[in-house]
Amino acid sequence: MDIPALHARLLDWYDAHARDLPWRVGPRVGFAQADPYRVWLSEVMLQQTTVPHAAPYFLKFTARWPTVSDLASADDGEVMAAWAGLGYYARARNLLACARSVARDHAGVFPDTEAGLRALPGLGPYTAAAVAAIAFNRPANVVDGNVERVMARLFAVEPPLPDAKPELRARAAALVSADRPGDWAQALMDLGATVCRPRGPLCERCPIATDCAARAAGAPETWPRKRPQAARPHRYGAAFLLTRNGDVGLVRRPPRGLLGGMLALPGSEWRAAPWSDAEALATAPAPGAWLRVAEVEHGFTHFTLTLKVWRAEGDAPDLLWTPRAGLDALPSVFLKAARAALN
Ligand code: ADE
Repeated sequence: MDIPALHARLLDWYDAHARDLPWRVGPRVGFAQADPYRVWLSEVMLQQTTVPHAAPYFLKFTARWPTVSDLASADDGEVMAAWAGLGYYARARNLLACARSVARDHAGVFPDTEAGLRALPGLGPYTAAAVAAIAFNRPANVVDGNVERVMARLFAVEPPLPDAKPELRARAAALVSADRPGDWAQALMDLGATVCRPRGPLCERCPIATDCAARAAGAPETWPRKRPQAARPHRYGAAFLLTRNGDVGLVRRPPRGLLGGMLALPGSEWRAAPWSDAEALATAPAPGAWLRVAEVEHGFTHFTLTLKVWRAEGDAPDLLWTPRAGLDALPSVFLKAARAALN
């Protein structure tokens, strides 16, 4: 493979077709330096979240907290509430830990190397590589799901995911551009998102189609190979919507674990066996005239949840009484349950 020619084809394509995204500068701005805070924030949001879903959150965060020092001095609860709906809430806790370290230990200035970034609390290997490349134009190997897919097709890598990850990473490392690493990383991501799509790749628009081994083999959409998926387990739970003068009684979940630190409706644990009504009601936050008003289903990464939702008017100790307009601070599963119960 002629790597300089490959670089030229993909970077020319990026110069012409780069998506216009709120955290981006360039490529037309040449090497204007992107704000590392905005690059870091966007990369954290974009892990496990699509560009269209993350973009409004990015705009909200940067309007509310324009610098890393602003974010560092934010109230935890306000940041968790602003993150609600983005999912993977450990990211929001790590975000705050990292912002506070940059503000306190680095005078509000992000380290400008991959190793320096990696040493920050709550900042993982993917984010360190992405910020080093995109904000500081360092030749870091930035490998997300898009890049894995492009590499799997370009080289027709046969082992299935996740076994193929080390090989895909090594393939990507061998291609990192020395002079435009930030644009290279983003060009691969854009190619994966808009052309080399998971289903229905648009090979006729691909600037590197002539290099692509999966295309030459036919059926490029059958890469990356995947191991047969085990069925997602199912869990069951009960949630309780208690209203007091129109306000809704919420709880805050423990800081660690699934949805850690987030607001929630009070309820039962989530378990493999369905709950009988009597069992479920024994977990209500207060005795009362509970009515079963809804049942919602929600997909998490590792299981699907069916949540029976009960509603009553009344009072209970230790609940956080929240006006309906404040329910936006709930993670999606509880927002879904609350909306279903209130309708
Ligand atoms: N996905 C993750 N990071 C991205 C970026 N910087 N541009 C486009 N898509 C992305």
